[in-house]
Amino acid sequence: MKRDFVNFEDLNKDEVLQVLDYADYIKKNPFDSSVLKNKSIGLIFMKQSTRTRLSFEVGVHQLGGQPIYIQGSSTQLSRGEDIKDTARVMSRYLHGIVIRTYSHKEVEDLARYGSIPVINALTDYQHPCQVLADLQTIRERFGKLEGLKLAYIGDGNNMTNTLLIACAMMGINISVATPEWYEPNGKAVKKALDFAKETGVSVEILNDPEKAVKEADVLYTDVWVSMGQEGEKDKKKDFEGFTIDKELLKKANKNAVVMHCLPAHKGEEITEEVFEQFADVIFEQAENRLHAQKSLLNFIYRGGNI
Ligand code: CP
Ligand code: NVA
Repeated sequence: MKRDFVNFEDLNKDEVLQVLDYADYIKKNPFDSSVLKNKSIGLIFMKQSTRTRLSFEVGVHQLGGQPIYIQGSSTQLSRGEDIKDTARVMSRYLHGIVIRTYSHKEVEDLARYGSIPVINALTDYQHPCQVLADLQTIRERFGKLEGLKLAYIGDGNNMTNTLLIACAMMGINISVATPEWYEPNGKAVKKALDFAKETGVSVEILNDPEKAVKEADVLYTDVWVSMGQEGEKDKKKDFEGFTIDKELLKKANKNAVVMHCLPAHKGEEITEEVFEQFADVIFEQAENRLHAQKSLLNFIYRGGNI
C-alpha cells in the first residue's frame, strides 16, 4: 500500500523515530541511498518557497531520482481543473507528488484520488516536513525528545498545529501562547490532547508568553502573517508582548534554545539579537530539512521500511 505524508500523524511514533534515526545516518552518508533511481517526483508549489523547494529538489536528486518543479500557476489547476482529475493524470507520469498549497483538503484529495505517494510541503493547516527536521534538530541538541518542554510563542498557525500534534505524540510537553483569537486549530489541539493521554505529556494553550516559557527547553516561533494572509488586517498591535526577546528568554530554562522555521521577520516575532544568538540552531533546522526529507522519501519508497 502506498504511504502518504499529508498529516504528521500519518506516521506513528515508532515510524517517526525510524525516520529520525535514518535522517541522522544519511546526514553523514548523503549518497548512501538511491531509492529514487528511475523515479520522477513532481514538486507542485502554489505558494512561494526557498527551503522546501530547494531541499526537495536536491534531496530527490541525491536519492537518484528526477525532481520536477511545477509552478502551480503554470498548470491547469490554476484554471479550475479539479484535484481528482489532476491526481489521476499525474499518477500516470510521476512516482510521487510533493505539494505546497492553501487548502489542506486539496492535499488530502490528491492523496485519495492519486495512486502515488503524496507529501505535504505546507498547507494552511500543517507543515509536517518542517517538524520532522525540527525534531531531528532538537534530538541533536538535547540527545533526546521525551520529557523536554517546547514553548511556542506567536500566531496559532500551521506550524503551531503540527508542533502540537508532533510534540504530544513524541513525548514532548508543549505550551502554546498566542494572543486571544489567534489560538491554534481546534482539531489539532484535540489530536494533541489524545496523544497526550498516551504519552502523559502536558499540552497547554495559553495567552501568556511568560507562563508558557517557564521551564521550557525550546522556545519556538514563526511569522505573525503567514503566506496567503498578507492582505488581512494589520496584526502587529494584537501581537504586542509576543516577541521572543532577551527578557522572555531569561524566563525559560538556562540551557534553552530558540528555534524558527524561517523565513523570519526580525523585530516582530523575534528580535535580531536573539535570532543571531541562536543562528546556529536555526540554520541547522534549515539544513535538516534536506536530511529529514531524504529519510522520509527513503521510508516511503521502501514501503514503510527503512
Ligand atoms: N520553512 C519553510 O518551509 O521555508 P520555505 O517557505 O522557504 O520553504
Ligand atoms: N506559517 C508560515 C510558515 C512558513 C514556513 C506560513 O505558512 O507562511
